[in-house]
Amino acid sequence: MRVASIIVRGSGPLHGTVSASGSKNAALPIIAACLLNDRPIRLHNVPALQDVRIMREVLASLGASCSGPDSDGGMQVDAARVNRTDPPYELVNRMRASFVTLGPLLARFGHAEVPLPGGCQIGARPVGEHIAAMKALGADISQEAGKIVARAERLRGAEVFLSIASVGATQNALMAAALADGDSTIHNAALEPEVVEVCHFLSAMGVEIEGTGSSIIHVHGRPSISCELDYSVIPDRIEAGTYLLAIAGSGGSGKVCNIVPEHLEALTIKMREMGITVEEGEDCIHVAGPEVLQPTDIRTGSHPGFPTDLQPQVSVLLTLADGVSQVSETVFERRMGHFPELTRMGARVKTANGNAVIQGRPGCLSGVQVDAFDLRGAAAMVLAGLFAEGETIISGLDFIRRGYENMPGKFATLGGFVHFSDEVTMEMLSQ
Ligand code: UD1
Repeated sequence: MRVASIIVRGSGPLHGTVSASGSKNAALPIIAACLLNDRPIRLHNVPALQDVRIMREVLASLGASCSGPDSDGGMQVDAARVNRTDPPYELVNRMRASFVTLGPLLARFGHAEVPLPGGCQIGARPVGEHIAAMKALGADISQEAGKIVARAERLRGAEVFLSIASVGATQNALMAAALADGDSTIHNAALEPEVVEVCHFLSAMGVEIEGTGSSIIHVHGRPSISCELDYSVIPDRIEAGTYLLAIAGSGGSGKVCNIVPEHLEALTIKMREMGITVEEGEDCIHVAGPEVLQPTDIRTGSHPGFPTDLQPQVSVLLTLADGVSQVSETVFERRMGHFPELTRMGARVKTANGNAVIQGRPGCLSGVQVDAFDLRGAAAMVLAGLFAEGETIISGLDFIRRGYENMPGKFATLGGFVHFSDEVTMEMLSQ
């Protein structure tokens, strides 16, 4: 049996410059938001990733014409001929983010049937907030055979109160409100840059929005959206943060470009506490690792708190720090699967109820065969492999393909050895 794996070699200090790709988590709702518009849209800086291709397939299955993303980040979406409102289970189950098609389909066509989603296995990820938002906008919602079925002749503008500042629910509510009859106000909106980006994209399509970037957003609904446009997606702050941590954790120095430094503030504050030198430019951040990393405590939270999507990666650096660190995961409490694997590589970590106490020790990691259980956990294991003595073989290549464009090439630029292999056999793994 063959297992798609990532082979990583301890590579010493990483040096050089890499460029961040476009943001996966911004591109996905933006592609979904194209469903609101009956004219062609050209997107730029879209990362060529598996998740983006799945979203393209979702739109294509509904009747949209889509092409790309091509190697320079270009993608075209034309939703003029959409004639279905029921994305297929096979696609939605592969990626939770496809649930953000609910809002735009319902708003434009008055009907949507979206299967309850799959995605990364990082704890229960309910959609109650999405449903509550659609109901507030006047939709009838029922659950039938594993699908959410939503109907409304025309959504009507309303006060939408989210009890959790969910990223996906805010995006779904914004897209639905864009074509509702009248004005809507979304209270307790998520503040993440990928939510702000959806506001910017809707504005670029002519939707009037006030309060972009705040927790109370007013949307003036339009009867229809019909405008051709070009739009460039923001850089991927999580990918950028992963490379910054890789460079600094290896004791090297280097730069990540094509980023918005303010999007990474929660990370750079923590990196400085760890003794890492951080210099911010206009669209890049330069980091230099210290001889010995200092311990610190991390508590994940919604933006502008520390992003849960960088918790596994920063935790790897803390296993190498000189002292005790504590990591509290408050967003997805079960996002702790990387810790037992790090322990197998030599780290000392105790976990309970979403908390980890890490007894850091410089140089403690050695390459072994490990498993990854989700996208960011897989990225963390790649970092651990780069910092370890010897070779690390990580199952979970498909996770990395979902979220990191050209990872082997980018690490090669920095002097790191990361190899994707669809050819690792069970016999090789058991040697
Ligand atoms: C998005 C990101 C994901 C990131 C997360 C938090 C995408 C494609 N994914 O996921 O990478 O880790 O934001 O920054 O953009 N919740 C509910 N009910 C709901 C919705 C959410 O209880 O209806 C809970 C979730 O279980 C979780 C928390 O709210 O504990 C945050 O989830 P949410 O912000 O919705 O994350 P996603 O949009 O799924």
